[in-house]
Amino acid sequence: MRQIPVELGEGSYRIDIAAGLLCDASWWASQVAGRQVAIVTDTRVARHYLEPLAKVVGQAADGIVKIVLEAGEHNKDWKTLDEIFDGLLAARCDRNTILIALGGGVIGDIAGFAAASFMRGIEFIQVPTTLLAQVDSSIGGKTGINHARGKNMVGAFYQPRAVLIDPATLASLPPREVAAGAAEVIKHAAIASRPHFEWLEVRIEALMALEAETVAQAIEESCRIKAGVVAADEREGGVRALLNFGHTFGHAIEAGLGYGTWLHGEAVAAGMVQAAELSVLCGRLARSDAQRLTELIGRARLPVRAPDLGWQRWQDLMAVDKKSLRGAPRFVLLKGLGAASLEAVDAQLVKRAIDANIAETRTPVRGELLP
Ligand SMILES: NC(=O)c1ccc[n+]([C@@H]2O[C@H](COP(=O)([O-])OP(=O)(O)OC[C@H]3O[C@@H](n4cnc5c(N)ncnc54)[C@H](O)[C@@H]3O)[C@@H](O)[C@H]2O)c1
Ligand SMILES: [Zn+2]
Repeated sequence: MRQIPVELGEGSYRIDIAAGLLCDASWWASQVAGRQVAIVTDTRVARHYLEPLAKVVGQAADGIVKIVLEAGEHNKDWKTLDEIFDGLLAARCDRNTILIALGGGVIGDIAGFAAASFMRGIEFIQVPTTLLAQVDSSIGGKTGINHARGKNMVGAFYQPRAVLIDPATLASLPPREVAAGAAEVIKHAAIASRPHFEWLEVRIEALMALEAETVAQAIEESCRIKAGVVAADEREGGVRALLNFGHTFGHAIEAGLGYGTWLHGEAVAAGMVQAAELSVLCGRLARSDAQRLTELIGRARLPVRAPDLGWQRWQDLMAVDKKSLRGAPRFVLLKGLGAASLEAVDAQLVKRAIDANIAETRTPVRGELLP
């Protein structure tokens, strides 16, 4: 088993990674023995993993509650959160109940927020089942829901007591979702580890094909990088913002096309190409390194060109970015492959970076790969 500590003082915990771990009776006994357990998942994940998990957890726990939510980002809302509370209260859950979040980032975020607020906070375990959740959203303690006026607008920093990652659960994930998760894997390497980036240049096809050893290694490295950044800056006052590489442009793409048109990872992929171009224009990154990044993203079957939103719309969408200072967006720039910094950039350079990497003739449609 691969184990990664997340060092947060009193709130420290471990990420355990191994194929087949989901149904490891001794792992679960060590976590939930004698406790009431509530498993929160969504309809799609439930189809594959709810019963096997409930069976093994049931051997150690003192009672199990299953709460199955409708799948989909549009259900990451107040109403669905209330469904979780309803399920917990109906089953007489109390402060000693342990909640298990079984699913992708949507379930991790909403169930984590439920755990943060039910009875003023109960323990929870993250069991991420998408690549994005395994390398990114399950680590770091950001939980929450969307509001009609904005994504992730209501939430809490709340750390799990453990994270269980079973890479074998990715076998049932649609390839498009695998690619979207790979975007965050590439991002972690690009901002923090040149050796990992170079390893990915060799292994990217094996990763996309879900070759077992490659997937486990990629997840481990990504978790290590994210855990290190989070440990240095739990509440995003400084270096944690570097995890936003490609996201200023990416969030604009997601919002500009309408959420759900492109997956988050697809938008971040094109956004990383733009952010790398901007890094070149600012004199921080060699052109050849930007090309290597673009090539790796393309090999992961992710888009390398953004849709043409129009300059005014790009500006409006980027002005609301959380990293903005008084409405002026700041950007994570690469300083070579494996290092990054957050900087304010002249708007004309931003425009040039966008113009260099938009689809020339038309807006790409859902999931379409562009040259
Ligand atoms: N908390 C954080 O730090 C953080 C970081 C990044 C993203 N996020 C959030 O994560 C969410 C996106 O997460 P996501 O991409 O995992 O989306 P998701 O949770 O919607 O999962 C994608 C789809 O795959 C299905 N699915 C999940 N696991 C599966 C499996 N093993 N087999 C088959 N189908 C499976 C789900 O039912 C869903 O339909 C967003 O809401 C985003 O805001 C949070
Ligand atoms: Zn992201």
